[in-house]
Amino acid sequence: MKSHQKTFPEGEVPSICQVMMPRDTNALGTIFGGVILSQIDLAAAIEAHKHHPGKLVTVAMDKVEFVEPVFVGDLVSLFTRTVSIGRSSIKVGVSVWSQRRFGSMERIYVTEAEATLVAVDDDFKPTPIQRSCEYFAYDSDSSQGKA
Ligand SMILES: CC(C)(COP(=O)(O)OP(=O)(O)OC[C@H]1O[C@@H](n2cnc3c(N)ncnc32)[C@H](O)[C@@H]1OP(=O)(O)O)[C@@H](O)C(=O)NCCC(=O)NCCS
Repeated sequence: MKSHQKTFPEGEVPSICQVMMPRDTNALGTIFGGVILSQIDLAAAIEAHKHHPGKLVTVAMDKVEFVEPVFVGDLVSLFTRTVSIGRSSIKVGVSVWSQRRFGSMERIYVTEAEATLVAVDDDFKPTPIQRSCEYFAYDSDSSQGKA
């Protein structure tokens, strides 16, 4: 289904931006979905660490639908936003865009996901979000991020 009308987040800084290499391919020669899933996980962790400097683990990722393929040489950008912050969990939205390098240079919407990360202590048990001071201002001017 290609009915997704998404707008490229112009002006936003991606959490991850990477050129896809031949090592990232599947047996068909296009980019392996697992590579993109791994990047989504990593981008979500980068976003979540803005709020909590300690250990975080991914507990859940919602349905991911790949609507376009990604090719070797494409510049893939992952944009993140904090959806909500709970007692020990942080929900992060991630959208993935691909810029064709050997063609139109068009930016193509690939997929999006929502990942939930949980702050854990040294025994890997849930622990309260510590609220990193550096980014606390980010939470204070919106309803997002209020525990
Ligand atoms: C993450 C983990 C520590 C949570 O343990 P748990 O006993 O389920 O913890 P709790 O039930 O107390 O829930 C802790 C928080 O996680 C949230 N949570 C738990 N399961 C969830 C799920 N499936 N989806 C979304 N949030 C979930 C809870 O809502 C709670 O959030 P809050 O504190 O903000 O209210 C445990 O499930 C775990 O270790 N999972 C493996 C994580 C991992 O290794 N990931 C890498 C992939 S291999």
